[in-house]
Amino acid sequence: MQYRKLGETDLSLSVITFGAWAAGGWMWGKTERNDAVEAIRAAYDIGVTSIDTAPIYGQGTSEEIVGEAIKEIPREKVQILTKFGMRWNLAKGDFNFTSKDNDGNDIDIYKYAGKESVIKECEDSLRRLGTDYIDLYQIHWPDITTPVSETFEAVAKLIEQGKVRYAGVCNYDAAQMAEAEKTLKLASNQIPYSMVNRGIEKETLPYCIEHHKAILAYSPLERGLLTGKITPDYQFQPGDHRANHKHFQPEFIERTNRLLQKIKPIADEKGTTLSQLVLRWTVERPGITIALAGARNAAQSVQNARAMDFELTQQEFDFIHNTVNEF
Ligand SMILES: NC(=O)c1ccc[n+]([C@@H]2O[C@H](COP(=O)([O-])OP(=O)(O)OC[C@H]3O[C@@H](n4cnc5c(N)ncnc54)[C@H](OP(=O)(O)O)[C@@H]3O)[C@@H](O)[C@H]2O)c1
Repeated sequence: MQYRKLGETDLSLSVITFGAWAAGGWMWGKTERNDAVEAIRAAYDIGVTSIDTAPIYGQGTSEEIVGEAIKEIPREKVQILTKFGMRWNLAKGDFNFTSKDNDGNDIDIYKYAGKESVIKECEDSLRRLGTDYIDLYQIHWPDITTPVSETFEAVAKLIEQGKVRYAGVCNYDAAQMAEAEKTLKLASNQIPYSMVNRGIEKETLPYCIEHHKAILAYSPLERGLLTGKITPDYQFQPGDHRANHKHFQPEFIERTNRLLQKIKPIADEKGTTLSQLVLRWTVERPGITIALAGARNAAQSVQNARAMDFELTQQEFDFIHNTVNEF
């Protein structure tokens, strides 16, 4: 495993960081709690020391699973990344969407990052995670109803109190990052990036490079699509958001699979899986600090962690990159 520093901080994260969204079940059909705990522990054993979660992932379930998985590990050996600003238990802020929790109950989700709410969310996260500090605390989505300065004053207070080490954002564009930085220095931006979703290369990625901000690439496997296992007739479990996602419609699946077939000979020659090759390409791209790889079980998380265990020549990398450019 490799470890990289976040921007100008002294926080180092494993290049493959465990993404605990699917582990929380919500929007992914369901979760097998024991499998999820085992997925985190098995990945940790081979160097995945960093874990990204959020309160909204299973409405607390994902954070509890993370807490359970790391409880025997000395705290300083793991890096906990969590978020705030998506409320399902408070109808305030910018209404986002209606969903169902893991028990099938209707929930209304709001983007809200008012000061009191951020402070309360932090306390709840610390309790669920079983820790007294969060390494990286990230706003989950921009909240248009709260002044940005108010939100980041709250985070600054949490840093002052030692409950949070560094502040980050998710899903922010360059202008939003610049606005937040008027109040507090940011370590990172967590944004979507994969072989078939490279929108950030235009503006946000150059901004982050120029301003020494880390990029945490989310959905690097395009939610499973880039593993090569998805076919146009793939059946998702009820409640799995991918069934209606634009990247899981037959035409996009077929186009993506054609791309994967072109790079498969390199995977075969190296004895790696497509997922490993895809993750490796992702973390070798300029400006990408780490990849957040989601996994449901230990087989997946261990396979993903091993994306750093093989050599790629410049020629092979160029071939993969040129193929991706043709997509
Ligand atoms: N800040 C945000 O707004 C935001 C948004 C999205 C994600 N994220 C973060 O980024 C993380 C990763 O993104 P993601 O979970 O959306 O997508 P992802 O990492 O691209 O894909 C994860 C899914 O792909 C499948 N998979 C993973 N490894 C596999 C393997 N080796 N073989 C076969 N299938 C495999 C699993 O689902 P199946 O087995 O069910 O196919 C897994 O849940 C999240 O967990 C979360 O921490 C953040």
